[in-house]
Amino acid sequence: MCESMTLFFNAQSHHFEPNLRKPFLCSVKRTHFSQLCQPSTENLPPDHGLILVGGSKLSGHVNISGSKNSALAILAGTLCCSKTSKLHNIPDISDTREMFSILQSLGVRVEASNGEVTVDTDGIRSVEPCPESVRQTRGGFFVVGPLLARFGEAVVALPGGCDIGTRPIDLYIRGLQALGAVVELRDGKVCAFAVNGKRLVGGKFHLDYPSVGATETLMMAASMADGVTTLCNVAQEPEVVDLAWFLNKSGACVEGEGSDTLVIKGRNQLHGPEFTIIPDRIEADKLSAAGCKIIETTQNTLEISALPGDIARDIRGVHVKTGPFPQFPTDLQPQIMALLMTRNGSSIVEESVFDKRMGHVRELQKLGGRIQVCGNTAFIKGQDHGSALYGTTVCATNLRGGAALILAGMAAEGITKIDGVAHIDRGYQNLDMKLCSLGANIRRLISLPVCQA
Ligand code: EPZ
Repeated sequence: MCESMTLFFNAQSHHFEPNLRKPFLCSVKRTHFSQLCQPSTENLPPDHGLILVGGSKLSGHVNISGSKNSALAILAGTLCCSKTSKLHNIPDISDTREMFSILQSLGVRVEASNGEVTVDTDGIRSVEPCPESVRQTRGGFFVVGPLLARFGEAVVALPGGCDIGTRPIDLYIRGLQALGAVVELRDGKVCAFAVNGKRLVGGKFHLDYPSVGATETLMMAASMADGVTTLCNVAQEPEVVDLAWFLNKSGACVEGEGSDTLVIKGRNQLHGPEFTIIPDRIEADKLSAAGCKIIETTQNTLEISALPGDIARDIRGVHVKTGPFPQFPTDLQPQIMALLMTRNGSSIVEESVFDKRMGHVRELQKLGGRIQVCGNTAFIKGQDHGSALYGTTVCATNLRGGAALILAGMAAEGITKIDGVAHIDRGYQNLDMKLCSLGANIRRLISLPVCQA
């Protein structure tokens, strides 16, 4: 007969502690526990959760991990390079591990430890990555560009990623066609090959919308095309710029990164560079949304303290509208909503990038958030409108929505339990341990099958 036992991961003692209300049954279990004292989220059973007790003030030093969205694009970009790329500051999160599987499914050798990743593409023997892995992330689809550019063909499953809107790929397809590719959709896959059977050809393409993924994929494709490519109305996000820097360090010739137009002179061959990716701005901004003041920053570390009472009180209702960089980032929209729920005044949050990114609202309402949604606009009534937050059980359904629930749980009275933590682990490396080291009362909750001896 099996019964489950509840364990708390105490980030202070770095150990899983049993729920002392239930006695241990036999020594076998102890052996079992020791295996689990390594806090890598990779070993955790899927059904674990987070437990938070609200009310703590955060302060101290915290290391900001490498940017998830830069890492995914640059890992795809290593496919453009012959020889070995050596990457630094790659976050240890499930999305990057999925990207490793995508590369390995093509015959690429990937070695990763402590944020250092070496990628050797000389063993590539396929242009069709594992479809299941591609369907796990959005970034996995970006490999269509480098594969097509380097081998003249690619067969890539339609992408996955957070369920936050329709997320079409029409700009990728039309952009690749503008570079001389034939692109067909067959059995849930994009099948593309260079018309001349060998190499893409430089051309001109105007993006109807400055899509991050389409810009990055076309930039990689054009960096090995025959001739010059001009991409207009492109995305200007820091992660797009970081990819351009990586490609240029590999011998490419990309100009205009950070502006709305890229001019790319194609090269026959690129070689693997040594490259350090940028820190994750969305992770850093999340701490500001937790009501923290950022005192000092070094390359990857922030020193933060709780906002002084008077300043915290002065943050009143605002009108926020998301948009392409440099406008307010859509990836911070749920977190800013959690912050505004705890402030005075009424706020409006408009989502203009994705057409279905309000799924976190019903979970924030469960915690006491007074939020009304109309289409892609949320109307938030603050504390002075009786929006008191109380802990309860909520569920993360995507990455940034999950981050917002942690912020709200830290502000709520009592205990909050967050399920669906696998969504959060997709994009944040050891977020609970970082918040705990800053003073948050947060634990990872694990339930393990225990067999009677
Ligand atoms: C990237 O997604 C990020 N993901 C997203 O982060 C981020 O929210 C988004 O850029 C915007 O900043 C990665 O980099 C892996 P888009 P991406 O193409 O590239 C429309 C997170 O939480 N569009 O810029 O998929 C699309 O429908 C994730 O870290 C087309 O119409 O975003 C959307 O409305 C979530 N046709 C808009 O562009 C296309 O062919 C923005 O999408 C492509 C996109």
